[in-house]
Amino acid sequence: MSEPVWWQTAVIYQIYPRSFQDSNGDGIGDLPGITHSLGYLADLGIDAVWISPFYTSPMADFGYDVADYTDVDPLFGTMADFDRLLAAAHRLGIRVIVDIVPNHTSDQHPWFLESRSSTDNAKRDWYIWRDAGPAGSTPNNWLSAFGGPAWEWDPVTAQYYLHTFVPDQPDLNWRNPAVVEAMHDVYRFWLDRGVDGFRIDVAHRIMKDPELRDNPPAPADRESTFKWMGEYESQLHIHDQGHPDIHDEYRDLRTIIDSYQPPRVLIGEVHLFELEEWAGYYGRDLGEMHMPFNFTLLYAPWTAGEVRKRVDDLEAALPPGAWPNYVLGNHDEPRLATRFGAHATRVAAMLLLTLRGTPTLYYGDELGMEQVPIKNQQDPWAVREPELGRDGCRTPMQWDSSTSAGFSAADPAQLWLPLEAEHADRNVAVQTDRPDSLLTLYRRLLALRRSMPALHRGDYTPVNSTSEDLFVFERSSGDERACIVLNFNDRPIRFDHEGFADAEPVLSTTLRRVAISGSAVSLAPHEGVIVRL
Ligand code: NOJ
Ligand code: CA
Repeated sequence: MSEPVWWQTAVIYQIYPRSFQDSNGDGIGDLPGITHSLGYLADLGIDAVWISPFYTSPMADFGYDVADYTDVDPLFGTMADFDRLLAAAHRLGIRVIVDIVPNHTSDQHPWFLESRSSTDNAKRDWYIWRDAGPAGSTPNNWLSAFGGPAWEWDPVTAQYYLHTFVPDQPDLNWRNPAVVEAMHDVYRFWLDRGVDGFRIDVAHRIMKDPELRDNPPAPADRESTFKWMGEYESQLHIHDQGHPDIHDEYRDLRTIIDSYQPPRVLIGEVHLFELEEWAGYYGRDLGEMHMPFNFTLLYAPWTAGEVRKRVDDLEAALPPGAWPNYVLGNHDEPRLATRFGAHATRVAAMLLLTLRGTPTLYYGDELGMEQVPIKNQQDPWAVREPELGRDGCRTPMQWDSSTSAGFSAADPAQLWLPLEAEHADRNVAVQTDRPDSLLTLYRRLLALRRSMPALHRGDYTPVNSTSEDLFVFERSSGDERACIVLNFNDRPIRFDHEGFADAEPVLSTTLRRVAISGSAVSLAPHEGVIVRL
């Protein structure tokens, strides 16, 4: 490959700001807390942070309901706090990616307050308003991703407005050029402040069918490669998202991004599982997003064969020259350690950090944090569909063995979400001191990845093995070659490779010393090994 750009060789670490580090004892994480923790991140060995929204917000969706795109919510600090965070991160060589939510605003955003004030308000058309259908019915059959209809009746002006998420999150009308201009100003605001890029929230949703046609019902036997989203799954979402006009917008946005130096990155949250449609977000001539997030491994059955298939399908679907990326956890999905099982966390770490492309690591997954059962869920999704609630993957980061886990000076009962039960043992301080901990493994993997071009920029070649328990692949760059052998099963297994005869095993997920005997390596259950060929 040609000289890579920073975001291609980077490892991104996602911070959910409410939950990372609380600097003022109110039980909620904040920006000064993040600044305080940057040393940990530099030492861990990540290259960039993506921070979920910290803008002014009524917090109906914990910040994904923005009331002012160009200010910081007092709960999280001030704009000066943000500037300090950015400067401190840059001093440590850590890039900062911010989260922009272009599909919808808060219903308390001044734009929406104006829009809803009367049918002839100048901003009426900034949102998607429609008359009721026959007998007062909703304008079409679209559903909210969080349950129930996607339309809310507004008695004052006697029309419905569209909300893909909760009613507190009205959808912006991206077919109105004034909206496009206003949102481009938002991107420019943060670029001018010096951020290194954007994660675009539900990027594929901003353009809908201009005629707002009904979605067709989903065939009953449809298979899903992702999680089951309740009533929402009853339709094929072909008209309420991803209209092809969307690509003009991302091409324009990319032009704005590309006018800045040093280079910035554009990452889109694109929840589309037809790989061809998903890959379209790289754009013609790769002129749109640098990376649409790749979620295909999140719900992969944890077997070598399924994981390899999803990786190979992804590689095959990439447009020429497009850069892959992998996600194994985020603030919307059950914790990795719970989803795949605690036995899988080490192989998952090695997988994420050795596949070709940019990995995104969710805070706390480096400790093996588990999904926490929460009695009174706060997530607006949980209020409608409890089994889909996301609070359990958003619990406070576990820094040490003190009562509030070093997350906050507040009492445990005052934290915005309860701590995970194992926090006294599963935390940064404890795992830093243990040479065989998961955190130590992450540190070693990150350091190795950084030092080996084969791992951070090399080609990917799957290797066939005789065992269905193993996923084996090679990464190579110039003369450097690494072979990654991952055992997905709970049985020990030997793997023979002609290239192993005089090869050097460099890292095992168990952090033990691995020996090669003859041309074979013996793996323990759920062990992964990196061998330099
Ligand atoms: C996707 C975000 O990741 C999720 O947390 C949020 O609730 C929705 N978009 C709505 O903004
Ligand atoms: Ca706080």
